Amino acid sequence: MGRKYFIKTFGCQMNFNDSERIRGILKTLGYEPTDDWKEADLILINTCTIREKPDQKVLSHLGEYRKIKEKNPKALIAVAGCLAQRAGWELVKKAPVIDIMFSSFNMHQLPELINQAQAGYKAVAILDEPPGDEDKVWEFPTERDNKYCAYVTVIKGCDKRCTYCVVPRTRGRERSRPLESIIDEVKRLVDDGVREIHLLGQNVTAWGKDLEKPLPFSELLYQVSKVAGVERIRFTTGHPRDLTDDIIDAMADIPQVCNALHLPVQSGSDRILALMDRGYTKEFYLGRIYRLREKVKDIALSTDIIVGFPTETEEDFGETLDVVRKVRYDQIFSFKFSPRPGTPAAEMDGQVPDEVKTERMARLLELQKGIMSEIARSYEGTVQEVLIEEAKDDGTFVGRTTTNRWVTVRGGGNILGKIVKVRITKASPFNLDGDLLEVVR
Ligand code: SAH
Ligand code: SF4
Ligand code: F3S
Repeated sequence: MGRKYFIKTFGCQMNFNDSERIRGILKTLGYEPTDDWKEADLILINTCTIREKPDQKVLSHLGEYRKIKEKNPKALIAVAGCLAQRAGWELVKKAPVIDIMFSSFNMHQLPELINQAQAGYKAVAILDEPPGDEDKVWEFPTERDNKYCAYVTVIKGCDKRCTYCVVPRTRGRERSRPLESIIDEVKRLVDDGVREIHLLGQNVTAWGKDLEKPLPFSELLYQVSKVAGVERIRFTTGHPRDLTDDIIDAMADIPQVCNALHLPVQSGSDRILALMDRGYTKEFYLGRIYRLREKVKDIALSTDIIVGFPTETEEDFGETLDVVRKVRYDQIFSFKFSPRPGTPAAEMDGQVPDEVKTERMARLLELQKGIMSEIARSYEGTVQEVLIEEAKDDGTFVGRTTTNRWVTVRGGGNILGKIVKVRITKASPFNLDGDLLEVVR
């Protein structure tokens, strides 16, 4: 009987893509996936440590998964990802059931680590620096659930030093993936039926600067768009400071680049932005937004906001609300500031009490709720192009607009994987309903 693995993923899209790569590695080793951890021979948790909550979730899951060893003493428990990188042996001491540990630096070493663990050793491979041979990881395939939309990681790490953030510690310095390696993967994905390519990086707009022959990110957009069969391109996450005019021009110029951008603002207060070391002011950020809106018609914008950064006053928070009112985001991801070990912001005076964070968060969400329903209503009666990703049991189909909105589509034939025109009949903040008009391609 074949060996089985169970994988649980926390965190961002990059971690999700790492898990797809890990699944690809496990497949080449002969492992099959299972949805039930109780029948697995290998349980792998790909962790996140961006805020305190995900840390706690990992420990509670480990507490549960350890029971596997009662039934199957040979079963292995592996921990990967950002918490593994940050906590290292400290985590193994807290949870001795861990057999294998590695991070996004050395996923390609997983086959050896499994061998070591099977031989009875603790296979903990947490490195201070990314190893020189980490590009080997791209030689492994990915295992994906979505047949039509695929993530492609193009740059690892982050060279920014936002004072609240653990990512530079957990993912290391910026390392761009070589252009040929990216294009090879895009070609393979398209051959496999993929129509939408989602380029990923913690700071994706910085891609190319560190290559032997430096290239701008806009060039990557052009190169990906030239691969036959690529119908749509998205990218995450852009940093406002690196969103240069040539990138905005490329977004406007390349038909496949979707009409959506996630551009984290974090705060609207110049004083807080400086304390965060974000490298821009409210005015600069809004300038980027106005330029985007001018060049890329009807672009849908989303953002991340941190509420209750140390010393944030009512007035500072008011500036954040002002940005939200001015930009009118399609979607906001808001987080209460969470002090992370080893980051400067965790040590700052003027930590904001939790009640204040909760209360500000509620006001932010209330404001956003109104904006979201107004934007949603503006879709009613319009015609949208939708890439159909899923067929439902009730005969409807589900897909996304170029502005990244989910649409439930009524109407016939097998349109799975097709880009279709849909007339929107009903709109709510998180979902649109519509009728199929025609298949475009
Ligand atoms: N590279 C991306 C963000 C990655 S982390 C960027 O620069 O925008 C995703 C989001 O988590 C961040 O945008 C921020 O809003 C939030 N975040 C990061 N550290 C945090 C912390 N210590 N407390 C609360 N939220 C945090
Ligand atoms: Fe963290 Fe800032 Fe880098 Fe984003 S840009 S990953 S928030 S340090
Ligand atoms: Fe979390 Fe690491 Fe992503 S800390 S948000 S999984 S980069």
